[in-house]
Amino acid sequence: MDAARPVAGSGQASAPHGFVWGASTSSYQIEGAAREDGRGASIWDTYCGQTGRITNGDTGDVACDHYHRYPEDIGLMRDLGIKAYRFSVAWPRVLPKGRGAVNEAGFAFYDRLIDALLGAGIEPWLCLYHWDLPQALDDLGGWTNRDCAWWFADYAALIARRFGDRVKRLATFNESSVFTLFGYCMGGQAPGIADHAMLLRAIHHVNLAHGAAIDVLRSDVARASLGIIHNYQPCLPASEAPQDVAAARKFAAYWNGAFPDPQLLAHYPALLAEAMVPCQQPGDLARICRPIDWFGLNHYSPLYMKAYDGNPLGVGFGDMPPGIRRTAIGWPVQPDAFRETLLEVHKRYRLPIYVLENGTSNNDSIDQNGEVVDESRIDFLRSYTSAMFEAMKAGADVRGYFVWSLLDNFEWGSGYSQRFGITYVDYATQRRIPKASFHWYAKLIKASQSAPAQV
Ligand code: FCB
Repeated sequence: MDAARPVAGSGQASAPHGFVWGASTSSYQIEGAAREDGRGASIWDTYCGQTGRITNGDTGDVACDHYHRYPEDIGLMRDLGIKAYRFSVAWPRVLPKGRGAVNEAGFAFYDRLIDALLGAGIEPWLCLYHWDLPQALDDLGGWTNRDCAWWFADYAALIARRFGDRVKRLATFNESSVFTLFGYCMGGQAPGIADHAMLLRAIHHVNLAHGAAIDVLRSDVARASLGIIHNYQPCLPASEAPQDVAAARKFAAYWNGAFPDPQLLAHYPALLAEAMVPCQQPGDLARICRPIDWFGLNHYSPLYMKAYDGNPLGVGFGDMPPGIRRTAIGWPVQPDAFRETLLEVHKRYRLPIYVLENGTSNNDSIDQNGEVVDESRIDFLRSYTSAMFEAMKAGADVRGYFVWSLLDNFEWGSGYSQRFGITYVDYATQRRIPKASFHWYAKLIKASQSAPAQV
């Protein structure tokens, strides 16, 4: 399955034959239909219902209404020319209470989606967890409860049995460090806890859940190609002050190391090792470190960190150095950091890499011709894909690239105020308008398919 290997030396910056071009989304961000057909509540439904959490009080109740409009969205994918689509299953849609009684209507939705994708010649890449934990499980402690690992493995078994005949590409988690750090310690995400001990427990239990689910998927899905999706970014000090340098180093251990290290190297990062001891039981690291087939990498920008006493971690986001271009959401545009990250992940973990998220928010609007001309997104994508090709030329084993995102969607705490899509969504009418970047990406894919060049 992983046949696309870049061939070094030709000097041409393009994708090798077999390179997987795709697009990514996630359940809570696009599906809507939050109370339809028996879906249970997730922690994001609860969180969005709390005053002041989300910009403009937005929620994922309707989002892009993908639950009803998925055939049209698959039509967009076809026009785009992608051969792979990454989505996530909403755990509470198939298991409204997270365990126990299944919701047949929820499974039926993903059956329809998967069959329609396959019918369109698009391979489904299924992620089990993109942050929408069933509320009923959070009521029992969520990820701070060790049992959550086994509930997750049971959920994985149901997914394997139901879809494993058609879905071979499976990921356990999306960005574990983001939802644990922000959800349990630093603020900004569901379930909205700020407690360092809870964070450590959540980290360990997510790691256990990953290992347990990998075992289940490996045994229950024939010819499975299994991975996990990590965000991985340089964590740089916002100043030369020793406390900021220490904060950046500490943050890097949590952000980049707390999940891939135990999962792939069987140890926690040195800076975290002692703190993790009380969460562990004998044999846990062996339960966590299970063989996987690929490393899913999400990358947007480096992070600039500072010492900060406003949260229990003691680390906060600082200012970036002057002179660096920022995207609409304020993230720096630094494609060189992407190239270095790909090389670092390649050297450290020695697995095929799929870039499963990369993209940018932009202040998009419909012009008088009815078009959305997002030149700065095109610039961003061009510079980041070029940086990826450079990394491949330098030896990084990158097998695919998925843009974030197919559609504008619910951007967590920023609600609908940030547009990351290559397709514009007019939320009032749910009309989809492919942006200029959509056409640019379609051309890139077409060119690399018709004349596959060696990197
Ligand atoms: C990532 C998330 C994804 C989206 C992008 C912009 O951290 O995985 O859901 O919000 O950022």
